[in-house]
Amino acid sequence: MQVHRSIQSLRAALKNARRIAFAPTMGNLHAGHVSLMEQARHHSETVVSSIFVNRLQFGPNEDFDKYPRTFEADCAQLDAAGVAHLFAPDEAELYPAPQQYFISPAQAQDSILEGACRPGHFRGVATVVAKLFNIVQPHVALFGKKDYQQLMVIRNMVRELAMPIEIIGCETIRASDGLALSSRNGYLSPDERAEAPRLHRQLAAIAEAVRAGRQDFSALEVAAVSHLREAGWAPDYVAIRRQQDLQAADARSPLVVLAAARLGTTRLIDNLEI
Ligand code: PAJ
Repeated sequence: MQVHRSIQSLRAALKNARRIAFAPTMGNLHAGHVSLMEQARHHSETVVSSIFVNRLQFGPNEDFDKYPRTFEADCAQLDAAGVAHLFAPDEAELYPAPQQYFISPAQAQDSILEGACRPGHFRGVATVVAKLFNIVQPHVALFGKKDYQQLMVIRNMVRELAMPIEIIGCETIRASDGLALSSRNGYLSPDERAEAPRLHRQLAAIAEAVRAGRQDFSALEVAAVSHLREAGWAPDYVAIRRQQDLQAADARSPLVVLAAARLGTTRLIDNLEI
């Protein structure tokens, strides 16, 4: 695997690549990230990944400074997963001057769920992903369903801005007890780690209830929120929404149930398609 610190070096290496599959990350990789790289290989012989902890998508009181940086171990995993080129710029390379042009996602999608809890987050994500797309110029790009709203925002950005890129959504990889793998799981104490799968269990119970015919969505949401609270969590939301645009659920559309909740100081998100 070649590691490129500069845009120039990456562009030179990719000059003659026929078809590029790209999966961006912020590093501290786990089996969820690796699964994106493995799926990328089915789409192209030239798999490109990136590691960049993007300051633009972190709020002022979020974990940008303490976000885990494990570059050597990440490289070993990407290499083993068949990644040919890793783009790992420092901030001065990607943001030589403070970024002044931004991609702002549609209000309807930016103002709900994660967007409501983390103002400016998707603007930061969309801006860096657009910039990475311009640098890598992939034909296919892969994102995890773990970040369901992020995947939706990127799909819509690519469609509305006519970017010639196919976006692939990849299934969430979980630990054997159901907890969705996440770089932030590393913040959990042993007791919190034992408690953490409750989030997935709650989502699974809601998915099951809706599949069995329940349509009292807000009662299901409220019950899950209070259950999590009683178990010591601080939930931000549990929401049953339409898969397509994450707007209010109706009985005809394919649905997804999404949740975000803090356990101690760690904020976890998860979702399940119904
Ligand atoms: P990061 O959190 O590192 O995630 C990189 C990619 O891995 C995302 O597409 C994410 O959805 C996917 N992913 C994370 N956990 C996963 C899991 N358990 N199963 C499957 N896929 C999983 O998401 C970001 O970085 C950033 O916002 C980024 C897109 C790189 C822009 O900065």
